[in-house]
Amino acid sequence: MKELELERIIITQEEIHKRVAGLGAQITEDYKDKDLFVIGILKGASVFMSDLIREIKTPLEIDFMSLKSYGASTKTSGVVRMLRDLDQDISGRDVLVVEDIVDTGLTLSYLKESLLVRKPASLKICTFLDKPSRRKVELEPDYCGVVIDDVFVVGYGLDYNEKGRELPYIAELKQ
Ligand code: IMP
Ligand code: MG
Repeated sequence: MKELELERIIITQEEIHKRVAGLGAQITEDYKDKDLFVIGILKGASVFMSDLIREIKTPLEIDFMSLKSYGASTKTSGVVRMLRDLDQDISGRDVLVVEDIVDTGLTLSYLKESLLVRKPASLKICTFLDKPSRRKVELEPDYCGVVIDDVFVVGYGLDYNEKGRELPYIAELKQ
């Protein structure tokens, strides 16, 4: 199998660990007396999600959703399809959506709308990476690990055509 060509590592494994621990502590504090329900967005957020929930020291439940925006490789089309829905009802629950990266914001704004219809008690977004310079719709994550420039990255769950998710760091892809 051909290997991905990487430009450079932009976030090391150690830095990731520190950031995730920080986010976990913040979320623990904010959700102490809440009914926390964490939704991971497959497949990209699976790695971040599994680390994050172990840094949250308050009871929670998890579920996953799978969304696909049409178009492969490095561009988002803006048309989002739901491939897997939740097993459970989220009405009255304090929902925290966990995403790998917010880019144009189209995926999450679509998701937010479709979750709000189900009447959660609250709905917040936690993303590991944010590329605010690429935003096409107004969307501000409530929790963010690291803000990055407009570069395409892989690793820590993020892929380029399904490759690179297993890398323990975040690296910029060679153009
Ligand atoms: P948005 O709808 O444009 O915000 O796109 C979000 C989705 O695009 C993410 O969940 C990722 O799957 C994908 N994406 C955006 N930027 C990157 C990147 O730099 N590397 C890998 N995937 C990315
Ligand atoms: Mg993806």
